[in-house]
Amino acid sequence: MSTLYRLVYLSKNRISGGAAHVAAEVQSILAAAQRNNPPLELTGALIFNAGMFAQVLEGPCSAIESTFEKIQQDPRHGDLEVLAYYQTTERAFHHWSMGYFGQSRQGQDLFGHLAKVTGFNTDGLEGTRLFEIIRDIALEEETRAA
Ligand SMILES: Cc1cc2nc3c(=O)[nH]c(=O)nc-3n(C[C@H](O)[C@H](O)[C@H](O)COP(=O)(O)O)c2cc1C
Repeated sequence: MSTLYRLVYLSKNRISGGAAHVAAEVQSILAAAQRNNPPLELTGALIFNAGMFAQVLEGPCSAIESTFEKIQQDPRHGDLEVLAYYQTTERAFHHWSMGYFGQSRQGQDLFGHLAKVTGFNTDGLEGTRLFEIIRDIALEEETRAA
């Protein structure tokens, strides 16, 4: 098995238009991830709200880098800020080609929480801390679904 890496980033949502259009764009992002990520052995999680995306991608370094190249070019978001990119030993999101938690109460709360802890400025936010928050939301959702 190739060495496992994890990338954590934040970006600003640039999808404009009504709620139905926004929902359709998010669905199309998830469909791309569900189609493209499994053959590349990529797993991860995506959180979205009106203002921002937060994503964790985990898998082999070459797969993360080629996929992130595409993601960076995507006009549906901007001002990408990579908070962490590091080697790790275990996947946190092995059940998900791309888990989506934007609609969970905690997913929506995440940004309220981040705003509170960062004073509405995510500059000081640590990638590993953001990863832990997203992982906790995923665990809670998994427990709820079980
Ligand atoms: C926030 C965000 C997250 C995304 N995550 C992924 C992803 O995990 N995997 C992926 O293949 N595409 C992802 N995309 C979509 C890519 O930018 C791109 O549109 C897609 O990979 C193109 O797929 P295609 O080459 O099959 O046409 C994401 C886009 C955004 C805006």
